[in-house]
Amino acid sequence: MRSRQLTRWVPVVLMVGMAGTLPVQADEFSQEDLKRWEGQFMEVVKQGRELWTRALGSNGVSCAQCHPNAANTHPETYPKFQKQLGKVALIADMINWCIRNPAEGQPMAIDDPRMVAIQAYINYERRGVPMAPGKH
Ligand code: HEC
Repeated sequence: MRSRQLTRWVPVVLMVGMAGTLPVQADEFSQEDLKRWEGQFMEVVKQGRELWTRALGSNGVSCAQCHPNAANTHPETYPKFQKQLGKVALIADMINWCIRNPAEGQPMAIDDPRMVAIQAYINYERRGVPMAPGKH
């Protein structure tokens, strides 16, 4: 029991000890870095906005028809229990649910660049909204 407690604490002590010696990286981004990364992010948001008004499935229906400007997508509430899926789901799961059902299309892999773009767009539209995981 005693040695188990010890092994639990050793990594913590090491991490605390190292924190004082490692250089802090967080404040060292240059203005050019920040500008470039924001530009790349906004490019992906733009791709998401384009996908939003396009038919992603087989029946010509776009996301924007039911969710204009990403309305009622509530990204800040994920992960949360979704009754359609019967489990605590990611927003990617609900995006795929809507691609399959109203849009009658093929679900996207979680790392599909279109999935990333859609999430960037939805989250960007809801920027500033407080996080509320699990909320209905
Ligand atoms: C025919 C109307 C319709 C279309 C088209 C549609 N949706 Fe939905 N969407 C719904 C409904 C209905 C729900 C379920 C609302 C609920 O129970 O939370 C929903 C829920 C969602 C949610 C979760 C919302 C929440 O509050 O948790 C997301 C995210 C979402 N849709 C994304 C999309 C995307 C992406 C597309 C395009 C591929 C799309 N939807 C197309 C009707 C639609």
